Amino acid sequence: MVGASELSFRALVQSHGATLAYTQMLHPSRLKPDPEYLAFHRRDLSHSPDPVVVQICGSDADELLRGARKIANLCDRIDLNLGCPQDHAHEVSTLAHGLSVPVSVKMRLCIRGKDATLVLVQRLSAADASLVTLHARYASVRQRRHGPENLDVVKTSDIQANETHTGASGIMVGGTLLGNPRRWRARQTLHSVFENELLIPADISLECLELCQAYSNTASLKTMQVHVRHIVEFQWYVHTNKLERRFYQSGTQ
Ligand SMILES: Cc1cc2nc3c(=O)[nH]c(=O)nc-3n(C[C@H](O)[C@H](O)[C@H](O)COP(=O)(O)O)c2cc1C
Repeated sequence: MVGASELSFRALVQSHGATLAYTQMLHPSRLKPDPEYLAFHRRDLSHSPDPVVVQICGSDADELLRGARKIANLCDRIDLNLGCPQDHAHEVSTLAHGLSVPVSVKMRLCIRGKDATLVLVQRLSAADASLVTLHARYASVRQRRHGPENLDVVKTSDIQANETHTGASGIMVGGTLLGNPRRWRARQTLHSVFENELLIPADISLECLELCQAYSNTASLKTMQVHVRHIVEFQWYVHTNKLERRFYQSGTQ
């Protein structure tokens, strides 16, 4: 996630049970001519816990390949973020044949419907995408991450139910992990005590800070502040939700 998936945060969620972590979306156009940008991300990747996927974005196949080659030796897979779902089979194929690591794709639902989404997934797969991650919302400018999902998404049972319902081989979590980096541990233990677990924001923030110190020069103060804000806001949400439920249950209104 842009501005939030740096090495320390990936290490944090992986230490709490995520089996795989992605970098934020990198811009191939900058990976070559901007030495600072490249050095920062190579430093981040060279200390990364395994496995790590580097996500890139863009639509120029040659530029994507040139950029990806700058970091491919430091990761386990390259993921192409399609943003709005479009036919990028050519780009996927160029990457898949030009790199020694597998190439995957992340996309949203096609606005033209379920069949169109399926057809696109099949085309990408035929172009040698090793895996397709589907962000099951439509691309919408106003509500980029708030489609048909609702806030109950933070419940452990949703992850389980989604996996069973879709038959997918894995579930990817984005924003929810920012609020609760222990999300995957909650899933593994399957213990009700972890459902909507009340984290002590200071504890989990310190864990993140310690990892940031361990991997020096891989995160800025601003990035750490973003993490703390997400963690605190998540607790606020959990508390106000509980308050709201109790309020209505008690017949106060
Ligand atoms: C701060 C932030 C930055 C994000 N940056 C990216 C990104 O770089 N690449 C990407 O594929 N998705 C990005 N996303 C989207 C998430 O990966 C995920 O698809 C989305 O938040 C929906 O999942 P969720 O319901 O678990 O949050 C970002 C989300 C957030 C909250």
